[in-house]
Amino acid sequence: MPAAALCLLCGVVMPAAMICAEPLPRVTFPSGDPRRTLTRFSQDNVSHYDILLLHESEEELYVGARDRVLSLAVGTPGSIRAKASIMWGPTAEKTSECAFKKKSQETECFNFIRVLVALNETHLYVCGTYAFSPACTYIHLENFTLVSNSRGQPFLDGKGQCPFDPQHTHTALLVDGELYAGTMNNFQGNEPIISRSLGSRTLLKTDAFLRWLSADAAFVASFSIPGDDKVYFFFEETADEFDFFERLLVPRVARVCKSDVGGDKVLQKKWTTFLKAQLVCSQPGHFPFNVIHHAFALPRRRGGADFYAVFTSQWQVGRVGSAAVCAYSQEDLQEVFEGKYKELNKESSRWTVYSGSNMSPRPGSCYMGPSSDRALTFMKDHFLMDGKVSPTQGRPLLVKTGVTYTRIAVDETRGVSGATYRVMFLATTEGFLHKAVELPGGPHIVESIQLFGTPEPVKNLLLAPGKEHVAAGH
Ligand SMILES: *[C@@H]1O[C@H](CO)[C@@H](O)[C@H](O)[C@H]1NC(C)=O
Ligand SMILES: *[C@@H]1O[C@H](CO)[C@@H](O)[C@H](O)[C@H]1NC(C)=O
Ligand SMILES: *[C@@H]1O[C@H](CO)[C@@H](O)[C@H](O)[C@H]1NC(C)=O
Repeated sequence: MPAAALCLLCGVVMPAAMICAEPLPRVTFPSGDPRRTLTRFSQDNVSHYDILLLHESEEELYVGARDRVLSLAVGTPGSIRAKASIMWGPTAEKTSECAFKKKSQETECFNFIRVLVALNETHLYVCGTYAFSPACTYIHLENFTLVSNSRGQPFLDGKGQCPFDPQHTHTALLVDGELYAGTMNNFQGNEPIISRSLGSRTLLKTDAFLRWLSADAAFVASFSIPGDDKVYFFFEETADEFDFFERLLVPRVARVCKSDVGGDKVLQKKWTTFLKAQLVCSQPGHFPFNVIHHAFALPRRRGGADFYAVFTSQWQVGRVGSAAVCAYSQEDLQEVFEGKYKELNKESSRWTVYSGSNMSPRPGSCYMGPSSDRALTFMKDHFLMDGKVSPTQGRPLLVKTGVTYTRIAVDETRGVSGATYRVMFLATTEGFLHKAVELPGGPHIVESIQLFGTPEPVKNLLLAPGKEHVAAGH
């Protein structure tokens, strides 16, 4: 069992004075270096600290682990204290069913927590893989216990909200009391889904039959931006719009409208506003960075947002590849989603640009009124945009050889001079945190901090902007 499972880093945002002098040396803080206060936490018999959720007060951190949900007090600098813990493992019956389906009782047939959201002031909503049989439930915050159900049915079905397989990536986001999730919808792991559930409106899904998503779509992040009427999903999938001799992966962004209630006769209980587009992150002299690992949305003070994402390439040779960070503006996404659609020519099996007449209101736009059957029928086959989303300034913000970034978080800080600057926190597969400051000439990695005693991938990174804290789990 790894000793250092969760780690809280204090004061990682440097004062502005220190970032003015260029070139900046990179400082490496090994594990245990007193100049960087790292507070570590782990509990006996608890592993896989996969999901972190910070309470609004920033005093309490909820952690979803294997067969456990923990509540930790993090309000005092330099201390992490366990306040309460819930055991939530699969029943013996579920475990043996899981083993019967040829899954490992040593590594897979557990309840790996995948969704952990603050539903309201009194309840959390939590879902886990539950021995390849996803389940969800509520947690009373008052006494940190699972909400029991009188009908003897202990948990809700988590299919469509949580993956079956702990290996599958997923994303979930609570917006206005509704859960938007991107996950795998079946045991076999070949039917990805973007769903909306909870709340009082119709449950909505992507259409599996129409193949809006490739069978291997893997979700890495989802966002809702203040003042915007859409929800965005970042993911990876095999592209079938290119004629390519090998399997080609593409990073994508998809969006749905919050106002969507599904169709009436056509696209009943399905999204009527689902659109997806390709993200580009490339630089001359490098293979395209086409494998997305994570994304982060930074809302701007003046409105809108910038999306940051970390990539590697599917063509990297050997162990030492390169990682890249690309940023995309919300306006650039918008432009692509308002541009031309692609469509599949059924005879030639090739994707071409749709050149038919335009409809008004535009199909797939966040128009609040009822959509015509014609517009909905159009949406069934026009979900892929022709345009690609290019990164800001047309190139990666940062390219670094010899690392793979698993997570990114970005903070905007005001320096002593009053100027604001952005700081990127990049977590690696080897358990390091790179801190990069965006300077006029591009970002510069100013610190490299070893988070864990052993080289293990950082699976989660959480930024508490008010407190200048970063929490990381593995
Ligand atoms: C951890 O698990 C072992 C073996 O099941 C058990 O003996 C031990 O008491 C547990 N420790 C805690 C703190 O629960
Ligand atoms: C929070 O949500 C739970 C579960 O839906 C519900 O039982 C509870 O009444 C809600 N609490 C508040 C304060 O709205
Ligand atoms: C926890 O608190 C809730 C809400 O007050 C209550 O309904 C429930 O019975 C309590 N559970 C336990 C185990 O005390």
